[in-house]
Formats: sequence, C-alpha cells, structure tokens
Amino acid sequence: DHLALWGGRFASGPSEALSALSKSTQFDWRLADDDIAGSRAHARALAAVGLLTPSELERMEKALDRLQDLVDSGAFRPDEGDEDEATALERGLLLLVGEELGGKLRAGRSRNDQIATLIRMWLRRHARTIAAQLLCLIEAIMDQSRRAGQAVMPGRTHMQHAQPVLVAHQLMAHAWPLIRDIGRLADWDGRADASPYGSGALAGNTLGLDPQAVAAELGFSRVVENSIDGTSSRDLVAEFSFVAAMIGVDLSRFAEEIIIWNSQEFAFVTLDDSYSTGSSIMPQKKNPDIAELARGKAGRLIGDLTGLLATLKGLPTAYARDLQEDKEAVFDQVDTMEVLLPAFTGMVATMRLNYRRMDGEAPTGFALATDIAEWLVKQGIPFRQAHALSGTCVKTAEKRGVELWDLTDDDYARIFSGFLPADLAPQVKTILTVQGSVAARQGQGGTAPARVKEQMDEAAHALKDL
Ligand code: ARG
Repeated sequence: DHLALWGGRFASGPSEALSALSKSTQFDWRLADDDIAGSRAHARALAAVGLLTPSELERMEKALDRLQDLVDSGAFRPDEGDEDEATALERGLLLLVGEELGGKLRAGRSRNDQIATLIRMWLRRHARTIAAQLLCLIEAIMDQSRRAGQAVMPGRTHMQHAQPVLVAHQLMAHAWPLIRDIGRLADWDGRADASPYGSGALAGNTLGLDPQAVAAELGFSRVVENSIDGTSSRDLVAEFSFVAAMIGVDLSRFAEEIIIWNSQEFAFVTLDDSYSTGSSIMPQKKNPDIAELARGKAGRLIGDLTGLLATLKGLPTAYARDLQEDKEAVFDQVDTMEVLLPAFTGMVATMRLNYRRMDGEAPTGFALATDIAEWLVKQGIPFRQAHALSGTCVKTAEKRGVELWDLTDDDYARIFSGFLPADLAPQVKTILTVQGSVAARQGQGGTAPARVKEQMDEAAHALKDL
C-alpha cells in the first residue's frame, strides 16, 4: 500500500496513471543484488552506532541473505504496487522480518543516495566485463595482424588509393582506439570509485553513520566529498555513456571497412559462414550482418548518450525525479555492447583476408606517386617541383592507360629534363615497388615492417599495463 514508502501525509494512494508513469521496476530490478549488498552494509553501519542491537543485526543479515536467495530463484519479484526496486525489496524484507525490525533499515538513508550508489556499482562491474570483451577483440585484431606478416594492401584516403601499407598496419589502426577505450573505462572507474551512500536525500544524515565503512564494503575506496553532488550529479553516468558511444563509433568504423572489403568488387576478406547470414530469397547471398548491426547499433549507442545529456541539462541542483531516466540509457548501452562485442570478435577472429588480392591492388591507382616525389627530393629537387613532376608522370601514365612502372626510360628522361640528367632520370624505376615503398616509411609509427613489429610489441605492452 501507499503507506509503506511515503504515504504518511497522504490521504489517498497514487492514481493508476501516476503509478504507471512512475514505476521503474521493469528496468531497475537488475539493481536488486547491489541494493541488497547496500542494505547489508547499511545495517552494519546502523549497528555500529547502536541503532540495531547485535541480535537485530544478525536477524537482519539472515533476512537479507534469504531475500537474496528469493531474488535469485525468482520466487520474490516486484509486484504491480512497487514503485521501484528499493520499494520492492523493502516489501520483501518486511515480509521476512516484520515491520518492527524491517522498518529500522531505512534510517539514515534515502533512495536518492541509494540509487546514486547502485548505478555506480552496477556500471563499475559491467565496465570490467566490457573491458574484458574489448580485450578479446583487440587480441583477435592482433592475431590477424600477426598472421598478415608483411602482406601489403592499398592504403586509402578519401577511399582512393593513396600509399601502400602493411595489412597489419591497417588492422592495428583499429586496435589502438579500442585500447584507448579500455583506458577510458579504467580512468572513468577511478572517478566513479566514490560512494554516495550516507548522503541521504541531499544533505547527509544526523545519525553518525560511518560512510567510509559502507563504501569499503561496496567496493569503493572513497566517499563522495559533497552529499548534494553525490545524490544529484550524473556526470559519471554520462561519462560512462560517452565511452559506450565511442566504443560504438570505433566498432562502426571497423565494421564499415569490413563491409567494403567483403564486397565482390573488393574481395579483400571472406567472412566465416558461422559469422555471416544468408538471404531468404537470394540463395547465393552471404551477408556481413554482424558488421552491419555494429554500424547500426552505433547509432543507438550515440542516441542513448544524447538522450541522457538532454535529460541532465538544466536540472535544478539536488535530486529530481528526472534522474530516474539515467538508467535505461546505460542499461541499453551495456546490453547492446555485451551482445555485440563477442559476435564482432568472432567475426574478426575467423575472417580470412585475401592477401594475394590485396597485394595485387597495392601498387595500382598510382599509389607510388609520393615515392617518386620523395625520390626526386633526395636528388635535390624541392618538393614543390617534385610534386609537379610526379604529377606529370601520373598524367602521362593515365593518358596512356598504364601504370607508373610501365613508363619508359625515355618518358622519365623527358619528364624530368631540366631537373635531372637523362641517364639518372630512369633510375626512379628502381623505387617503384611496393616493398620498397613500405620499407622506406621508417619513422616511428610508420608502415615499415620493422616499425609495425615495434607497434605490435607496444600494443602487447599497453595491454599488459591496463
Ligand atoms: N527510482 C528513483 C530513481 O531511479 C529513486 C527514487 C527517488 N525517489 C524520490 N522520490 N526521491 O532515481
């Protein structure tokens, strides 16, 4: 009944319409375990200041254990009259220990500090799961990179052939953002590692409870510095939500690459049957649905963040009921990521790269034009002129429908005349190889095989430090 939680000053219970709007158990019941853990810690804090006798504490703890069992087995569930998970659990506790003892647990806490604590506990736990899943994906990418060895492919900008790169280099370009995402989760966890329990409704409590002890029991190393901030800020929820959206965007970029590579025109990758889908009408189809779902779900992950930020904008300071809206956004993000990441990882781990085709495409589209310009620079020609000369080579080859290495010695002597002696000019052809092109990119972070190997070692190292 409505008296249970807040009905003392009310003459009537809530209307059906209000209950339907206000009710959150359909999504916040997943906080029940954390709430029971909080209740256990809170009961001990009450006992520590004499507000529960040792025997009352013992009965309370037994009842909370029993309640946890009933929740686990599904025997105890929220019912229609429960406003939120906290209301439901209080009803459960009262059923087990009676009004007299059960009614004591609410002293010195509010659903405001409770819910603010629970969402941190829940998110911190899932951040660890997601970080572990990301780690698996990164390892799958690194495995593919190792398998690729020194295989080359066309590196593209604007989707146009730009310069050849190692396949491993291109793959690792997707690993680094994910490594940073794990770092973001870890950084976030450091900030989320402060318990709001004890903040009460907004101003703290008068009962002399030790919030540090409660915090420690709930896995926090600190207590929030400000009880108003502790109960009403959701920047940490929003920050988690940003990381989730960022993970979505990072996966989506990789997904788009795989979708393109998987097209007939590219044929750079073959997806494993167990990670592709078919068509109900076209028997020949084998579709990259995991990548497409990743790309699609990125939109949803971004939407959850945007909605949450909009909810938080312009709230008056201290708790307002709007804050109840924080949960569905991040629950949806966590559910989405936890189902997406294993599938994505499986797809990446099992995809077969078509090295021969990538290799064949690597030098085409005049991808070695920059190498010509830089060779000319090494002969003492300013880059501005070298760029123009190399451009003339491209124009000549394009007009003739051939590649740069098909131009004759005479062509090069003519194009470079006035800049290089006629016997030196054709030597440019010695650098017109993909292997030479990638090997020459020796700067740190470059695509030379030695640098890529170094990069892989650094990634392995970074993962160990996480
Ligand atoms: N269910 C609420 C939430 O999720 C917590 C309850 C606070 N209610 C209140 N009337 N102060 O944010």
